[in-house]
Amino acid sequence: MEWVGGVLDSGPIRRRRVITKGHVPAGQAGGNDVKLLVTGGAGFIGSVVTRMLLDAGHQVVVLDDLRTGHREALAPDATHVEASIHDAAQILTPDAGFDGVLHFAALIAAGESMVKPELYWQTNTVGSLALIDAVRAAGVPRMVFSSTAAVYGNPTELPITETAVKAPTNTYGATKLAVDLALTSEAIAHGLAAVSLRYFNVAGAHLTGDIALGERHDPETHLIPIALEVAAGRREKLQLFGDDYPTVDGTCVRDYIHVADLARAHLLALDAATPGQHRIYNLGNGNGFTNRQVVDVVREVTGHQLPVEVAPRREGDPAELVASSALARDELGWVPQKPTLHDMVGDAWAFYRTHVLEQS
Ligand SMILES: NC(=O)c1ccc[n+]([C@@H]2O[C@H](COP(=O)([O-])OP(=O)(O)OC[C@H]3O[C@@H](n4cnc5c(N)ncnc54)[C@H](O)[C@@H]3O)[C@@H](O)[C@H]2O)c1
Repeated sequence: MEWVGGVLDSGPIRRRRVITKGHVPAGQAGGNDVKLLVTGGAGFIGSVVTRMLLDAGHQVVVLDDLRTGHREALAPDATHVEASIHDAAQILTPDAGFDGVLHFAALIAAGESMVKPELYWQTNTVGSLALIDAVRAAGVPRMVFSSTAAVYGNPTELPITETAVKAPTNTYGATKLAVDLALTSEAIAHGLAAVSLRYFNVAGAHLTGDIALGERHDPETHLIPIALEVAAGRREKLQLFGDDYPTVDGTCVRDYIHVADLARAHLLALDAATPGQHRIYNLGNGNGFTNRQVVDVVREVTGHQLPVEVAPRREGDPAELVASSALARDELGWVPQKPTLHDMVGDAWAFYRTHVLEQS
C-alpha cells in the first residue's frame, strides 16, 4: 500500500470474497446470514442499495435521522432506526452481529457547504468519525463509504483516475476527502476492510414491480431533476451556467451514472473489501455529456420544449469532469447496464411523474 497525493491508492488486488464470521459474501443471494447497517437508507442512493441488499437476501438495518431523507423511501422489510450517525455506537454494539456498514448519510449540497461549512464538517466528517469509532468498537469487519468526484476539484487529467490530484474546491468535497483519509488510517492501523466509492453524477431511478425509488432533494441542485421540474411546469426555465467552455457546444461536460448501476457496485465492493486495505474506486460511465446534450434528451423524453436561459459561469465549475472507472471494471468486475442518458432520464421521468407529481 502506498500514499499517493495524500490518499491511499489501490494497487492490484487479488479478487477474493470476504467471508467473515461464517457469513456469506454480500453480493451473493445467500439468505439472511449477512447483517448490514446502511446509513442514509432513506435517501436517494441509500434506499436503492438497501433494496438491492434485501433482494439479495440480506438483513438490513437503516440508520437515518430523516433530515433530508423520505420516510416513504424506507424499505418495509428493513429495520429503521431514526437516529444520527453521531449515535451509531448505540446500534453497532459488539454483540449486534453486524458484518458490514454502508455509509451514505451526509449533507450533499456543494453550494450550501460554502456558506455553512461548520454544518458540513460536523455532519459529514465528525459524524463519519463517530461511525468509524463505533465500527471499530463493535468489531465490524468492513465498511463501504460514499465518496465523491468533488474530492478531485478541477481535474489535471481526463478521464480522472483514482490517483489524480485531490484538491477539492468546496467544503463538501473537503469533508468527504477527510473521511477517505480517516478510512485509510483505519485500515492500516486497525485492519478495517474499507472501500471508498467516488461517484460522479448519479441519475435515474430504481423501478421494479411496485418499487419506485428516485431522486427528491430539496432544494434540488442536480441538472436532470431540475430539468424535469421545468418539464413538469414546476419551474419556469432551466439555467445553464456558461456556454463558452472549451467543449463541443460550450456547456460543461459531466459524467452520469445510473443509480441502479451505482447500487450494484456497492454489493461488489462489499465482496471485494479486504481486511487491512482501503480500496478506492471511481464510479462513472467514462462518457461525458454536455449540459445541452442533457437538455436535448430531457426534451425528447418529456416532449416538453424546456426553455433554457444561459447564465454566467459559476465560480469553480470545471469545464469537464469525466471518470475513469477502469479500476472498478477490472477489480470489481463492475459493468454498467444502463449507461445511456435515455436510460437515466427515462427512469427519472417515470419516477417523477408517478411519485412526485401524482403524490403532491
Ligand atoms: N447524488 C449524487 O449525485 C452524489 C454524488 C456523489 C456522492 N454522493 C454521496 O452519496 C451519498 C448519498 O447521496 P444521496 O443523493 O442519496 O443524498 P440524500 O440526501 O438523498 O440522502 C442522504 C440521507 O442521509 C440522511 N442523513 C444525513 N445526515 C445524517 C445524519 N447525521 N445521521 C443520519 N442520517 C443522516 C438523510 O436523512 C438522507 O436520508 C452522500 O454521502 C453523498 O455525498 C451523491
